[in-house]
Amino acid sequence: MTDSAEFWDRRYTHGDIGWTLAPHPLAVAELALVPPDTCAGPNTPRRLALDLGAGAGRHTLWLARRGWRVTAVDFSATALERTRRQAAAEELDVTTVLADLDSYEPRQDTFGLILITYVHIEPPQRAALLARAAKALAPGGRLVVVGHHLDNLGRGLEGPSDAERMFTPERLSAELPDLRVERAERVVHTVTTASGERESYATVIRAGRATGDHPSLPPSEAGLPRHETHQEIP
Ligand SMILES: C[S@@+](CC[C@H](N)C(=O)[O-])C[C@H]1O[C@@H](n2cnc3c(N)ncnc32)[C@H](O)[C@@H]1O
Repeated sequence: MTDSAEFWDRRYTHGDIGWTLAPHPLAVAELALVPPDTCAGPNTPRRLALDLGAGAGRHTLWLARRGWRVTAVDFSATALERTRRQAAAEELDVTTVLADLDSYEPRQDTFGLILITYVHIEPPQRAALLARAAKALAPGGRLVVVGHHLDNLGRGLEGPSDAERMFTPERLSAELPDLRVERAERVVHTVTTASGERESYATVIRAGRATGDHPSLPPSEAGLPRHETHQEIP
């Protein structure tokens, strides 16, 4: 069953997740490949990024510090308030939107970059969200998705207990029929848990909306580290 806004509000209020965490290194490696002027052109919006299920904004803030104008969407008012406060303190160009991803309709043909990290919802909702995200990309824009790989299930690394909500490269690629998938990988990385360092598996997707004017990014990042240490987020 999908978790409620109240569930996430409680976690952000009483738990130690989200807002104190550094951006996820696997997400950052992908985001760094997409500069804010990716879709700049006479008929395309400039510098617009969308963080779906943004939580307390670790990636929203990272992108805004690099010149993106970011819209952060989440149904946790607590998480968004933390994002909003930090963005205001740093005078960053961030808009927060309190909305349920099941019904949120981003403007079509608009965003140079759309990000979905560790948002594990039911498969029908996930497929619908990915379809709306694909439509919301501007020509030449990129969608980046990072989350728990199915192989993390039952290994004590948190994440959903429901196999259907876990990611695999094959599952997510199949749900993006209208985009050109540039990277779809299971990535092994290291996380720090209460019981020490553990191996963890992530799914990393980068997909682009094709246009003759915007060449593909490299299919994989041979020069980027595959093993990173960071704190696990459920
Ligand atoms: C594990 S957190 C990840 C947050 C952020 N993407 C990150 O990587 O730090 C999952 C987030 O998705 C949000 N979320 C889950 N289901 C949602 C829905 N149906 N509508 C809006 N937000 C949702 C939760 O409120 C939570 O902030």
